[in-house]
Amino acid sequence: PVPIIIDCDPGHDDALAIMLAAGDPSVELLAVTTVAGNQTLPKTTLNALRVCTVAGITGVPVAAGCDRPLVQPLAVAADVHGVSGLDGPGFPAPSVDTVPEHAVDLIHRILAGHPEPVVLVPTGPLTNIALLLTRHPGDAGRIREIVLMGGSAGRGNRTPSAEFNVLTDPEAADIVFRSGVPLTMCGLDVTHQALATPEVVSRFAGMGTPLGEVCAGLLTFFAGTYRELYGFAHPPLHDPVAVARVIDPGIVGCVDANVVVELSGRYTRGATVVDLLGQTGRPVNARVATTLDADRFWDRVVAAVSALGAA
Ligand code: BDR
Ligand code: CA
Repeated sequence: PVPIIIDCDPGHDDALAIMLAAGDPSVELLAVTTVAGNQTLPKTTLNALRVCTVAGITGVPVAAGCDRPLVQPLAVAADVHGVSGLDGPGFPAPSVDTVPEHAVDLIHRILAGHPEPVVLVPTGPLTNIALLLTRHPGDAGRIREIVLMGGSAGRGNRTPSAEFNVLTDPEAADIVFRSGVPLTMCGLDVTHQALATPEVVSRFAGMGTPLGEVCAGLLTFFAGTYRELYGFAHPPLHDPVAVARVIDPGIVGCVDANVVVELSGRYTRGATVVDLLGQTGRPVNARVATTLDADRFWDRVVAAVSALGAA
């Protein structure tokens, strides 16, 4: 299995990303680290512990990281994920705890000690990852690839041109995109193809396990906010797409392109400027995900959740 670390801000879709990574045999989840984003750091961290507890994920260290973006103040997404960051279903009290180490220190230690390079899967703002690469430049060589959820070659979601994870900490995203580490960007172009239709929700509910019920509850809440805020008929399950790309690259089709992060645009701060046509002469620094095999994607997510629920 491919060794991976998920750096996240749960978050409904982050929760499913953790479950996919823990329940699929093609990847080995080495750690879950948290960052402020969808909600404040104490909430995203508590949510990561809730997810591990309800999904029976034990032996995977959870570490809290940065509580705010590098430069600008934090702006959370309570309108999408609720006051808790994981509104909807009820959760049992966490039976696992965080390790007493900052997320960046934990990632650094794992990279140093692991026999092979590790894939980092950031599904929140890139604050922790930018800090890691700044503080420990030598770690770049220990990272096999960064496969992130964030950005967009087209429309944004928090502003007309910016996607939430990049918009929340544009300076961090800029550091990551300029780092030279092999990078795959799973942005809105592809995640808006991962729609949790009622048929998908019923596959979780139909598992007949408490975990299946929790997943159905998460997707139902997410469907409500996406309908109200964005007019989506079905909510896009962004974050697990990045994990799926690591599990089976054939699920997510990519094209090579240069990507830069807009830091100073009057209307476009936080946009990822993707040179799909190769017009700028700037070198390729990312694989940009454009297509999703949605059937294979959902089969994989459902299988992982069933495996966890049965354990
Ligand atoms: C991203 O923003 C968050 O709200 C989601 O968890 C996802 O990581 C989508 O723009
Ligand atoms: Ca997220």
